[in-house]
Amino acid sequence: MQILYQGAESIVYLGTFEDQESVVKERIKKGYRIRELDEELRKLRTRKEVKLLTEVRKLGIATPRIFHVDEKEHKIIMENVRGDRLKEYLNTLTLEKAAVICFQLGKQIGKLHSHDIVHGDLTTSNMILKGDNIYFIDPSLGEFTRRIEDKAVDMKLLKEAIKSTHFKIFDTAWENILKGYVEECRNAADVLKQLKEIEKRARYANREVPL
Ligand SMILES: Nc1ncnc2c1ncn2[C@@H]1O[C@H](COP(=O)(O)OP(=O)(O)OP(=O)(O)O)[C@@H](O)[C@H]1O
Ligand SMILES: [Mg+2]
Repeated sequence: MQILYQGAESIVYLGTFEDQESVVKERIKKGYRIRELDEELRKLRTRKEVKLLTEVRKLGIATPRIFHVDEKEHKIIMENVRGDRLKEYLNTLTLEKAAVICFQLGKQIGKLHSHDIVHGDLTTSNMILKGDNIYFIDPSLGEFTRRIEDKAVDMKLLKEAIKSTHFKIFDTAWENILKGYVEECRNAADVLKQLKEIEKRARYANREVPL
């Protein structure tokens, strides 16, 4: 078995499905949870991931095609997106090229948010560039929501991820993400205002209290 990734909640490996190469994401058992609860959680999270991947794809945003869902074994069998994960790839690019990709990324997130979907884990580990398309994967923490706060939190997470993983290009990356986002998201102004509020709150919470 060729393992691509082993996380706390899941294991991702290569497989075949009807003669096609595939990627299997299997949610693993957590021994510390009561068995029934564990089964239920794995089932619900698998379902949610499938639902969101499908809805995101319907908007014309690239996601891996789903070949099969095994609810008993908590497995999603999907297309292997053979591309470059943005986490590593973005740091190998010139600023100009990174800017172009970040603009596209911002537009895609803007589109998601315009359709009231938040991804829930917008880190560059969950984005794969293949050809001209940025594929979104792993939306299992996402949801359907109209709340501005939820969209702002999604953006906050992305900003933190870019800051920590792509600090050398942060300014250009973030500027272009915002440009794309504003172009595509109907509530962009409200979301970005809320993002500022969240950051203000965070600064306030981190402030040292003088004795
Ligand atoms: N369809 C796919 N095609 C190619 N690579 C994939 C695919 N799905 C996942 N991967 C690889 O496996 C890694 C982990 O996958 P994923 O992000 O879905 O799992 P995870 O982070 O453990 O999810 P969760 O947070 O739900 O536990 C990805 O960063 C990516 O490198
Ligand atoms: Mg992930």
